[in-house]
Amino acid sequence: MKILAIETSCDDTGIAVLQASGSKFQVLSNIVSSQQIHANYGGVFPMMAKREHQCNLIPVLTQALKESKLLKNKSLTNFTPLKFVRQFKTVEKILEKENTLFESVKEFLETYEKPFDYAQGKPAIDAIAVTNGPGLEPCLWVGVNFAKVLSYFWDIPVIPVNHIEAHILVNFLENPKMAFPAISLIVSGGHTQLILVKKVGSYEIIGETRDDAAGECFDKAARILGLGYPGGPEIARIAAQFQPSTQRLSALANPIILPRPMINSKDYDFSFSGLKTAILYKVRDTKPKIVKSEKFIQEMCFAVQDAICDVLIKKTLQAAKDYKAKTIILGGGVSANQELRKQLVKKVRQEIPTTKYLIPNSALSTDNALMIAIAGYLNKAKKIAWQKLSVDANLRI
Ligand code: KG4
Ligand code: ZN
Repeated sequence: MKILAIETSCDDTGIAVLQASGSKFQVLSNIVSSQQIHANYGGVFPMMAKREHQCNLIPVLTQALKESKLLKNKSLTNFTPLKFVRQFKTVEKILEKENTLFESVKEFLETYEKPFDYAQGKPAIDAIAVTNGPGLEPCLWVGVNFAKVLSYFWDIPVIPVNHIEAHILVNFLENPKMAFPAISLIVSGGHTQLILVKKVGSYEIIGETRDDAAGECFDKAARILGLGYPGGPEIARIAAQFQPSTQRLSALANPIILPRPMINSKDYDFSFSGLKTAILYKVRDTKPKIVKSEKFIQEMCFAVQDAICDVLIKKTLQAAKDYKAKTIILGGGVSANQELRKQLVKKVRQEIPTTKYLIPNSALSTDNALMIAIAGYLNKAKKIAWQKLSVDANLRI
């Protein structure tokens, strides 16, 4: 089965093609175009991200299909644009709120033939998987409407995919024989959830953030410290330059220690807004000259990362012990954080050495369409006609 997957839930435009059979996966292409424009504003503005997706989708699709060797130019002799006039009316209707995308879609559909496997005499794509939630509503709609157009024009069914489930299931790529129950920590810009995975398709959220997500906390901390967006990778990079033993004494009289909100609560919930406030107060109460110094920024980055990692790891290990998890799964953009990975692995080995841990490589931790393709494949029974496809920005797993 070949799946074409589309991801546009936030600020990454992703398209992937996956060939899957049983538990064997072959990645034919996985293209991500990350929108740089948001770096100038220190955050993602949904309408701006929607506009970027409209510009990126056709170039990203073209590249993904070319890499998968599924694109063939239409021969001019048997191509009659007139034949498509009626279809283009429907396409235009589907994309009535994404008219920038309509023009490039039309040109694409006029230029290329429907992906077709000439050796096997059948369409080369069996299903289109698309993220339909959770995420930023205008962004989700661009991807979903794009999926509708391709589904309609090429006559291929669609599979709606839950973005959070995809962050979990991406681990099947390298571990098709995952042992359950599993505890999954999904940490991204919009979510911080601990999920009990009983099997594929059977999930229970056992804990989540009551306010900011962990990635949001990284991003807000970076903004307070005058660093770029996204804040997580910036804070990680600068924190790595901090030498705790020598530097602390030279920068400030006392080391910076930030609170670990809810670390000792008896549940699996999180809270990160208090941490952000503590960072704000620390900056406010420190002399401006010191705040601007490289050493202070380095120590702050170290302290922020340390506090976030501590809370995430403590709760994840507690959940894994309580639910006798056979596997711990880490996913979402924040799981690209090397310190979080290192410390989690160390703690698992020390405290629950028989529990397996699965952490996707950094490129598959952050948003991408390959994870949507894998989740789509594992949910292939849910395929529907494009008319039934909708968006739910607050979709729960
Ligand atoms: O999953 P993701 O790519 O998009 C969402 O669905 O939100 O996650 C993006 C988040 C951002 O908040 C970003 O700052 C954070 O992941 N992030 C990191 C790192 N790389 C990305 N946080 C900490 N350390 C990193 N290396
Ligand atoms: Zn994500």
